[in-house]
Amino acid sequence: MNQRPFHDVHRIPLARPWFDDAEVAAAAAVVRSGQLCQGPQTEAFEAEFAAKLNVRHAVAVSNGSVALLVALEAMGVTAGDEAIVPDMTFISTVTSAVRLGATPVFGDITLTDYNLDANLVERLVTPKTKVLIPVHYAGQVADMDALADIARRHNLKILEDAAEAHLARYNGGKFAGTIGDTGIFSFTPTKPMTTGEGGMIVTDNDEIADRCRLIRNFGDRGKFNWDAMGFNYRLNEVASAIGRCQLAKLDEIVAMRRAKARRYDEGFAACDLIHIPWLRGREDSNYQLYTIRLAVDRLDVSRDAIIAELTDRGISTRLYYPALHRQGVFRPFGPQDDRRFPNALEFERSALSLPIFSGLTREEQDYIIKTIPAVLAAHRK
Ligand SMILES: Cc1ncc(COP(=O)(O)O)c(C=O)c1O
Repeated sequence: MNQRPFHDVHRIPLARPWFDDAEVAAAAAVVRSGQLCQGPQTEAFEAEFAAKLNVRHAVAVSNGSVALLVALEAMGVTAGDEAIVPDMTFISTVTSAVRLGATPVFGDITLTDYNLDANLVERLVTPKTKVLIPVHYAGQVADMDALADIARRHNLKILEDAAEAHLARYNGGKFAGTIGDTGIFSFTPTKPMTTGEGGMIVTDNDEIADRCRLIRNFGDRGKFNWDAMGFNYRLNEVASAIGRCQLAKLDEIVAMRRAKARRYDEGFAACDLIHIPWLRGREDSNYQLYTIRLAVDRLDVSRDAIIAELTDRGISTRLYYPALHRQGVFRPFGPQDDRRFPNALEFERSALSLPIFSGLTREEQDYIIKTIPAVLAAHRK
C-alpha cells in the first residue's frame, strides 16, 4: 500500500483539457489532407458553433484577444472613443480597445458576481462612450438586462467578453455572447473547450459579421480585392478540427464542471472563512473558474501565503485577476483613484481560483475540500 501523503504523489493542476482519440484523429486527418488553412474544417466549426449557440454568425479567429480586437473594429470603435470595461478582467478585454485608439474607462465590479457593476456604469457614460465591454467572469453571466437598458438609452454598443462563458445561459435563456451586439469566446487550454490557441466572434448582425470576416482575412473580398484595412487573424485548420471535437463534448464538459462546482459549494458550506461563488440561475455559469474569496481579515496571513501553503500541499490555485486600473500599461491614461474601485481591490486581495476541469477526480476534489478549510482554520486570528 502507498503510505506517502497524497500531495507527495499528486500535483492537482488548475485546469487540464479533455482530449481523446477523436481530437488526435481529426488533427491527423487535416495534416494528411494537406490543407492546413482556409478550408472546410474552419467553415464547419463556425457553422456548428453558430448552431450550438443559436446565433446567425460565428467567425473563427486566431485567439480570444484577436476576437475582441476584430469585433471592436467591426463595430466601429476607433481613436477618441471610450470603452467602459470592468476593473477586474483579463488584460486584453481592455488592451483590445486601446489598440484601436480608444480610452478605457474602468468600472468597479460587484462582490456578488464579480462582473461590471451595472449600477455604476451610467455615471461613466460620456458623449465619447462608444461601447460597453461586460465580461462574464469565471463563466458567470453579467447583469445583461441592466447593461442593455443603459446601452439602449445612450445609443451604445455592447461587446460581450464571453471568453470564459461557453454555454453559460443568462437567466436560463440566451447563451452568453449572444445577448449584446457581438460576443467573443476564447479557446485557450484552460477554457471549457480548447483549440490550443483560438477564438470565435458571434453576432446576429450581418454587417458586423461581414466586417469581421473581412478584417480577419486582410480585408480581401476575393482575388486580391482588398476592400478594408484587415490583417491575418485566421484560425488554422488543425485548430478548427480539434475545436469541432471539443464542441461535440461541450455539453458534457460543462455539466461535469457544474457538478464539481456543486460539490465544492457543499464541501465549503460549513467553512466561514470561504465565500463560495454566487449563481444567478442554475445554468448562469459554466464554472470556467471556481473562484472563492477568503475572509482575509480573519486570517493571520495573506491570501498569497495561503496560495504558497496550498502549493506545498499539491493544490494549484491562483488569483484571476488583479485590479487593472493600477497596471502600468494604463499609466498613459492618467492616475486612477483607488477609492473608485473598492470591490476590485477587495477581490484582488482575497480571491483564489481552485482546480476545476472535467477530469478532476473525486479523490482529488475530496482532498481539496478537506485541505483548504483545514489550512485556513490553522490561520484563524
Ligand atoms: C475574460 C477574458 N478575455 C479575453 C481573454 C483572451 O483570450 P485569449 O487568451 O484566447 O487571447 C481571456 C482568456 O485568456 C479571458 O479570460
